Amino acid sequence: MMSLTSPPLAEEEIRSTLSTTSLGQHLHLHRELPSTNTEAMALAQSGAQHGTVVVADRQTTGRGRQGRTWFSPPGVNLYCSVIIRPTRLRIPHADWLSWIPLVSALAAAEAVRTMAGIRLALKWPNDLLCRDRKVGGLLCEHGTDRGQREFVVVGIGLNVNLPPEALPEDLAGLAGSLIEESHHPLNRNRLLAQFLTDLEPLLDELGTHGTARLAHGYASACTTIGTQVRITWSDSTELVGLAEGLGRDGALLVRPLQPRRGMDTPLVEVRAADVIHLRR
Ligand code: BTN
Repeated sequence: MMSLTSPPLAEEEIRSTLSTTSLGQHLHLHRELPSTNTEAMALAQSGAQHGTVVVADRQTTGRGRQGRTWFSPPGVNLYCSVIIRPTRLRIPHADWLSWIPLVSALAAAEAVRTMAGIRLALKWPNDLLCRDRKVGGLLCEHGTDRGQREFVVVGIGLNVNLPPEALPEDLAGLAGSLIEESHHPLNRNRLLAQFLTDLEPLLDELGTHGTARLAHGYASACTTIGTQVRITWSDSTELVGLAEGLGRDGALLVRPLQPRRGMDTPLVEVRAADVIHLRR
């Protein structure tokens, strides 16, 4: 029989479904935190190991990209941060760094497909969409610890069992939740374990074999590619064009709309910016 309630976050259940060698082997589960990313950054700065995971049932000051806040009510969603350290990279360091957010988004989409049978679309660089509404996002932060060892914190927020009517007014119509598609509550422990289980081999692949296969996987899940987009940079400059593909470092390649026929406009490589899908 289909369960109508979702179990609370519980370390034993996360561990029992986890199939990794490093990610999640050190797990910090909290009832409430200001932000799992802030906590993971502090742990990483104090030397926490590769694969350490911080999860909270609720965040009081959840952080999104571009300084936004991340709506983080208790009991319904996933808020998690993973500490990643580079080990024996066989690809250029800059490529590794710029692909981590994309690879993490891919792992999240794979986990949701495996656990819930829901096919999410990726909006470049790392938004997770379900029927054109944002159900998840990733915030990746980079730092070095006191021993000068580098780390990246991958923070994921996923609206799982959040009833859509509980969304604040400013998110209504823009954000969504997996339960709208699954029609029954999903188990957040298993979803988290699956995310970590899917992320580990993708990170291994990135570090050892590079981006070729990952780029193919990402591009097939990314609905930004092939779409007319509006790009807005942090200094408010804008560009409207067709997103044609990905650069080697994961940049979005955008062909500006041609002002005059017959004139070829060069591709613009977009890295950190806001993207709006206009039309396919
Ligand atoms: C975005 O703006 O799309 C990224 C949102 C990332 C939110 C997650 S929730 C867990 C982790 N802790 C945070 O404070 N932010 C990230």
